[in-house]
Formats: sequence, C-alpha cells, structure tokens
Amino acid sequence: MFDSARGEAAGRFAALEACYDPVSQQQLIRTGLGAGWSCLEVGGGSGSLGHWMGARVGAGGRVIVTEIEPRWAASRERPAQVRLVRHDVVRDPLPDGDFDLIHARLVLLHLPERLAVLDRLVAALRPGGRLLLEEFDCGWTPVLAAPDSASTALFERVHQALLGLLEGAGADPLWGRRVLGAMARAGLRELSATTYAEAWPGGSRGIDLHRHNTEQVAADLAVAGIGAAELADFHRLLRDPEFVVNSYPLVSVRGRRPLRPEETP
Ligand SMILES: C[S@@+](CC[C@H](N)C(=O)[O-])C[C@H]1O[C@@H](n2cnc3c(N)ncnc32)[C@H](O)[C@@H]1O
Repeated sequence: MFDSARGEAAGRFAALEACYDPVSQQQLIRTGLGAGWSCLEVGGGSGSLGHWMGARVGAGGRVIVTEIEPRWAASRERPAQVRLVRHDVVRDPLPDGDFDLIHARLVLLHLPERLAVLDRLVAALRPGGRLLLEEFDCGWTPVLAAPDSASTALFERVHQALLGLLEGAGADPLWGRRVLGAMARAGLRELSATTYAEAWPGGSRGIDLHRHNTEQVAADLAVAGIGAAELADFHRLLRDPEFVVNSYPLVSVRGRRPLRPEETP
C-alpha cells in the first residue's frame, strides 16, 4: 500500500531508521553475525541496516541488499562487500542454500504471499543458517497520555481506518504476533523472540511515522470516511507534546535452519 517510489517513503525510512535501527542491530548481533558472513537483507528500504551489516562482515564477507524500489538505498555510498539489487522477493528467484543470515524488517507484513516468501527464505539459508524477521504488531498502540478524551478518540479512529486500508491491500497488521509460529511451521529451530516498544510523544521522530503513513494514503482515507479536516486535526495532534502514544511494538524473531532435514525440533 505504501508505494516506496513516492517522496513520502524518505520520511518513513528516516523514522524507521531512527527508532528501530539500534534495536535491529542488537538483534542482528544476537544471531552471531560476524566477519566473513554471507547475508541477505530483504526489502532493505533506505539501506541503513544493509550497510551496517556490511561493516560487521568486513571485506571478507558479503551482504546482498534487495529492494523492489532501490532508489533510496542507491543514494548511499556502499562498501564493496555490499551489493544492492532490484529484486521482488515474491517473484524473483533466490539462490538455494546460500546464506549464513537472512534479515527482513517490516517487509512480509505487507505481502499477501508472506507464507510462501517465508518458505523461500528458509530454502535460501545454508543448513544451520539464521533467519531474523522483525515485524510490527499494530494491534497494541495504546494512547499513553492525551490533552482530552476527544484526542484519544481521534487517534484511534484515524489509526483504525489506516489499519483497515492496510488489511484491504493484503497486509496483516497483526503479523508480528504470528511470526514465531509461522517460522516454526516453516521448519526453523532454536526460535526466540524479543519485542520492543517505546513511548512516542507528539513532535517526536517516531510519531512522525503516523504522519508519513497517513499523508501517503490521504485519498484512500477520505474514501474510508477520514476527510481532510479530520486528517489535519490528526496531524496537529501528532505535533502536540501532551499527546503520547505507544510505538508499534517490533517483534524480532530469530530461528535456525536445521543442519539435517531429520534434526528433531
Ligand atoms: C516498511 S518498508 C521497510 C524498509 C526497511 N526494511 C526498514 O525496516 O527500514 C518495506 C520495504 O519493503 C519493500 N518491498 C515491498 N515489496 C517488496 C517485494 N515484493 N520485494 C522486495 N522488497 C519489497 C518496499 O519497497 C519497502 O522498502
């Protein structure tokens, strides 16, 4: 639904990078990521994490960053071990059994074919290779403080409309809570998960994500009953420091491909 070719994508990537890159880097370190590893970063967006992984694997490793719209990542300088490719993870082939680590953040949530994509990512891991999927659970975003109850109601109304549009476009806003189970069914072992959330006050970098997302689909929101005046009120609320909402919880799930097909769970 959020077309990465449009200008609003830059603001969305900046907010994601500022709020969640430090979290994702810790999760990547927990997989053991180190010198010489061969990694795939799927739907790398601005490319920030792919570049950070490139520094971890060093000159003897390699990181392939894939993107259906690589223009944002392409604007960054890349070390030689990081390769950026235009690639559609739903349709384009992946090499089987190749990678020590595959990482995707907030990509499968948007794809109706997410379970088939998950199987293909598992097949692209070498035996013993690691998969780290990080996804939002958009179902837990309580308002933590508000100037009045009308502000809380406004946030909830607009946010619900946005989630409805996402679902209509084939996304699963609750995918974060389903990822671990899906990875278990896909045959991965040693599964573990960590969930991160923080408070986003009005005017903060994180809460800007709601602005970028709703600005990009303003026309669809209007059809769903959120007109321009209500959307303008919503955007004013997002700048009010008295308004505080919980961030989207980022669920980070790690798993390992079995060394042999007969390895017991
Ligand atoms: C919400 S953004 C997340 C970007 C980045 N992973 C991050 O967390 O900052 C989703 C990204 O997935 C990319 N994407 C969407 N469909 C894709 C597909 N079929 N194949 C590869 N990338 C895709 C989009 O272009 C976008 O950059």
